[in-house]
Amino acid sequence: MENQEVYYILKKILKEPRIAKLYDTMKDKYHGLKISHNWEHIMRVVLNAVVIGTEEGADLSIVITAALLHDIGFITNPSEPKKHNEYGAMDCLPYLNEWTNEEKKIISNIILKHKGKYPGYAAYEPFSLEEKVLCDADQVDKFGWIGLMQVIKVYAEYGTISYRNYDTMHGLAEGIEEASHIELYTGSARKLAEKLREPSYHEVSQAILKELNFFDGWKD
Ligand SMILES: [Fe+2]
Ligand SMILES: [Fe+2]
Repeated sequence: MENQEVYYILKKILKEPRIAKLYDTMKDKYHGLKISHNWEHIMRVVLNAVVIGTEEGADLSIVITAALLHDIGFITNPSEPKKHNEYGAMDCLPYLNEWTNEEKKIISNIILKHKGKYPGYAAYEPFSLEEKVLCDADQVDKFGWIGLMQVIKVYAEYGTISYRNYDTMHGLAEGIEEASHIELYTGSARKLAEKLREPSYHEVSQAILKELNFFDGWKD
């Protein structure tokens, strides 16, 4: 899809007053927050979701609403990043007063299931098309050069709250390797990921570990 076409579709979705209002609310909420899952990330996921959702024929108004709210759990419970989807599934509700109970349930479930699946981490399995689209739109932000920067940024941030050994180069390099095994659910996301094959996270991780070998070998 051409960039202008994607922007046009998003502009059209944002004409729905309740979504326009939510967009402004969330943009404000993220303003000045020094976290890796910031407004820039939210907007990359929103735009990925427009591309994937359009190609897959998903309900874009629902998917974009969920995309705007999907990482709210990081803000409400910053000390438990791995559970941000569970917190987000509840903490999105106060923002959805203008949505029906049925829609709230759908959006909450999309948020619950948006975390990607990779070896060693069991995720809630996305089931509906809209759940798969948002999950993939979020995971695509872990592909390509931007993806590599985002993965390092996110894991380094986790390292500062003592999550795993991400406060070390070695831990970060292992994290990069893990991120290369993410599973995608839709054909359109796999097509996007195919274009973002460079760099190979496996090769990057191996190269870093090889360089670190000299420094890690020091025993005092
Ligand atoms: Fe997330
Ligand atoms: Fe996200």
